[in-house]
Amino acid sequence: MSLEKSIQNSPHIIKGEKKKYAWCACGFSSNQPFCDGSHKVTDITPIVFENEKEGNIVLCGCKKSDNQPFCDGTHSKL
Ligand code: FES
Ligand code: FES
Repeated sequence: MSLEKSIQNSPHIIKGEKKKYAWCACGFSSNQPFCDGSHKVTDITPIVFENEKEGNIVLCGCKKSDNQPFCDGTHSKL
């Protein structure tokens, strides 16, 4: 069985809570944009970050942002 990447050319807008999140950097998670452990078959690891405030956060879905885990608009140039 081969894993399929699940990436999109737009961000994920998440209703953020004050807690720690693990953003999927490898693209293989089936629970995008969060890590589900599927990166084990790669040498990529998730980006873990502490979200400090409640409210929308805009997480990169294309995995090409220079400001991961956040969308920096790079997806619009792909
Ligand atoms: Fe990746 Fe915007 S979705 S930079
Ligand atoms: Fe992608 Fe963990 S599943 S970084």
